[in-house]
Amino acid sequence: MKHFLDIHKTDPSDLRGMIDQARVMKDARAGKPKGTPDAEQPLANHMVALIFEKPSTRTRVSFDVGVRQMGGQTMVLSGSEMQLGHGETIADTARVLSRYVDLIMMRTFEETTLLEMAEYATVPVINGLTDRTHPCQIMADIMTYEEHRGPIAGKKVVWSGDGNNVCASLIHAAGQFGFDITFTGPQTLDPEAEFLALANSKGVSATIERDPMKAAEGADLIVTDTWVSMHDPQSAKERRHNQLRGYQINDRLMARANPDALFMHCLPAHREDEVTSDVMDGPHSVVFDEAENRLHAQKAVMRWCLGV
Ligand code: CP
Ligand code: NVA
Repeated sequence: MKHFLDIHKTDPSDLRGMIDQARVMKDARAGKPKGTPDAEQPLANHMVALIFEKPSTRTRVSFDVGVRQMGGQTMVLSGSEMQLGHGETIADTARVLSRYVDLIMMRTFEETTLLEMAEYATVPVINGLTDRTHPCQIMADIMTYEEHRGPIAGKKVVWSGDGNNVCASLIHAAGQFGFDITFTGPQTLDPEAEFLALANSKGVSATIERDPMKAAEGADLIVTDTWVSMHDPQSAKERRHNQLRGYQINDRLMARANPDALFMHCLPAHREDEVTSDVMDGPHSVVFDEAENRLHAQKAVMRWCLGV
């Protein structure tokens, strides 16, 4: 069973194959109306369940459109409207859904929910974000970097802000795709040490630098995300903002990076908090290509899962 649960759990050559296939599929669609079916229909006769226990714009729409372009059908399910949200176990839900659909994509809170779904499902399961990781986002980010600047291997990537779920998947990708990663942010929001250690064990440099200006020096790519994630208590907001103000991505910080450095954000962004509009809308930013590439990268992920 080929589940796509995390980047560090997926073979590097398979990851590379997905990025390359995503690029081919994107190129093949260039200039065509969004609703045009792909010439190949690898998901014909396939039914895909998209389960959301948290809000989503990009993940929801890009998976739905991607399945349809490849000839498949989708059902978008809200966790709270399923029996899952009313006491039915994850294991039983997994067993039942596997009788109806060919593939399950799930966005949830605790990672254990996703892992239990994968354990009991007899169809592939894709991680559409948990509190801990967001691998589909980072597949799109790798694709986006490479289409603008060529191979990411050997480059310096900097994450500034909260060491959250998206940051975790970026650190996983450093080890699998061979780029260096520097985290800059307050100590209380550090990424998990075991993720940094894993990347370092794979021969790349995964480090922490508290000074954002120093961290940005020589960067090829600077990435950030919201300061308060969906799983964080709203009561944390004020404290987070005070802690993270110095890690905002603005023109002063971008000027420390390499002249051709890119800026990425998984979105949704909070303009003038973690990033200024000058940077979001400026020459380094590729945030909307990044959002588009969710579609192409996830189509390749789904094909890999289904072996089609
Ligand atoms: N980046 C991302 O996953 O966006 P959504 O929350 O809108 O799906
Ligand atoms: N870190 C954010 C990512 C949203 C796509 C969150 O989990 O809310």
